[in-house]
Amino acid sequence: MDWGLRNRLSRIIKQDGRTVMLAVDHGYFLGPIKFLEDPKKTITPLIPYVDAIMPTRGVVRNCIDPNIDVPIVLRVSGGNSIMGRELSQEAIITCMEDAIRLNVSAVAFSIYIGAEYEHQTLVSLSKLVDEGERYGMPVLAVTAVGKELEKRDAKFLSLACRIVAELGAHFIKTYYCEGFEEVTQKVFVPLVIAGGPKMRKEEDVFNVAYNAIKKGAVGVDMGRNIWQNKNPIGMIKAIRAIVHENRTDEEAYEIFIS
Ligand code: R5P
Repeated sequence: MDWGLRNRLSRIIKQDGRTVMLAVDHGYFLGPIKFLEDPKKTITPLIPYVDAIMPTRGVVRNCIDPNIDVPIVLRVSGGNSIMGRELSQEAIITCMEDAIRLNVSAVAFSIYIGAEYEHQTLVSLSKLVDEGERYGMPVLAVTAVGKELEKRDAKFLSLACRIVAELGAHFIKTYYCEGFEEVTQKVFVPLVIAGGPKMRKEEDVFNVAYNAIKKGAVGVDMGRNIWQNKNPIGMIKAIRAIVHENRTDEEAYEIFIS
């Protein structure tokens, strides 16, 4: 791994080997989803508590202060929407030149294993890795599962994560699942977990984050379970405590309500 690429990655995954990323890229296929209608209003108060932010270039240019000292992981895949026939039909929508112009620290691309456009997403990811290696830009592969959330089992996710690691992704965003250690054991690059749709109880979010870290994830890249909560600052502080201070899920809940 080249110096520039390692340096960019080190801005995201901190010295303790962990990271708290804030996912705010949902609008690229979902439009103005609940609590992200005004991205600036949602994102700004959370910035002091996160190690990285994951937006689209539209949000970066219009809703994020260029003076911040928080690395950006730029969503560069899209071209689909929740209204379309097939969510897996994603391609590169933002070129490497623009990612460099925005001074981002990594680019993120979704792949869809087992879906109609699996081949297109895997080949595009590989091309993005070629460009990432050329310019020193880390690539985050997002193992999206489309509308079929029931696919989130250890067998499927370890297959998806291992394939993108083999294709050269520098780090991976996936989902937590029963038997998550099977996923981390079979994948040789760092894994962060998404939160998925908002859970009913905060305790469940902390439990997922705690178990993911215990079983080998290097952090989280959560969105809805942070900013769709009535107390987003409490959520992010509690998640930080799990990720960076090795606190338990019960301790995190105490932090959340304090
Ligand atoms: C979805 O594809 C987006 O990439 C989100 O960044 C991802 O789902 C993580 O956000 P959440 O924690 O809301 O699932």
